[in-house]
Amino acid sequence: MAIIKSNSEIASAIWRMTVSGTPLGRAGQFFMLRVPGALDPLLGRPISICEIDAELGETTFVYQTVGRGTAQFARLLPGQEIEAQGPYGNGFPLKAGRAVLIGGGIGTAPMLQLAKELHASDPTRMIDVYLGFREEAYLEKSFEQYADSVTRNIGGYVVNDVDFSLDATYYACGPAPMLRAAASAADEASANLFVSLEKHMACGVGACLGCTCQTEHGRKRVCKDGPVFDYREVRDAI
Ligand SMILES: Cc1cc2nc3c(=O)[nH]c(=O)nc-3n(C[C@H](O)[C@H](O)[C@H](O)COP(=O)(O)OP(=O)(O)OC[C@H]3O[C@@H](n4cnc5c(N)ncnc54)[C@H](O)[C@@H]3O)c2cc1C
Ligand code: FES
Repeated sequence: MAIIKSNSEIASAIWRMTVSGTPLGRAGQFFMLRVPGALDPLLGRPISICEIDAELGETTFVYQTVGRGTAQFARLLPGQEIEAQGPYGNGFPLKAGRAVLIGGGIGTAPMLQLAKELHASDPTRMIDVYLGFREEAYLEKSFEQYADSVTRNIGGYVVNDVDFSLDATYYACGPAPMLRAAASAADEASANLFVSLEKHMACGVGACLGCTCQTEHGRKRVCKDGPVFDYREVRDAI
């Protein structure tokens, strides 16, 4: 059980929650979060690690209230408990050299811990961040301490802002149409791109097979084999 340290709305329907008492994961991994004792929904909801403070032993999540589970998270107060199973999933590979991070909407959240880890593993590497939002930006300022550039796009197509011809590793998380656009641009430029996929999840640990996607190596579980994949591998999810 994790303890809520803070939980507040940072943009319209976007909440930032910091908890203590969970094992610390790494960028691209997620936790199955659930309000203790809740009967509806009974199952946890997958929420990505947004930022880890290893010194304080705290993990921050940023979530959008879209339905029953996330609405319950928003009612939790500091000092209360939340079930946090995890960390689950493979996480982003930290490749050497320049990195370009692309986040769309709530897909921005896991990019922050990725920027932090990429910067920590090589403070001299170039990191360019591109963030796309429908109406209102959030988390943007938090990237500035790790990135050489942060480009924001509101209401447009963030992938159009990205130069895919650089000698860099590209990482993307966001809605499927955004990932499709990124995959197509990466393909054209022969760029290396890792995408973090979203699927409905029941167990989160590879047991129910409810979250599979078709890959060149057969069906894979997004929760256990992913959620991060080389875009070239994915056949039906983007
Ligand atoms: C690996 C992973 C990491 C994620 N990280 C984050 C994160 O950091 N922050 C965040 O806000 N959200 C994240 N999500 C999405 C989040 O899990 C869903 O928004 C959440 O489960 C919705 O639960 P709910 O009970 O509020 O909504 P429900 O009442 O269950 O559904 C409300 C609406 O959301 C849609 N929905 C539900 N689950 C998903 C899902 N897994 N993917 C896409 N749409 C869904 C439903 O189709 C429905 O339209 C992540 C999903 C995955 C798979
Ligand atoms: S959610 Fe059960 S196998 Fe992935």
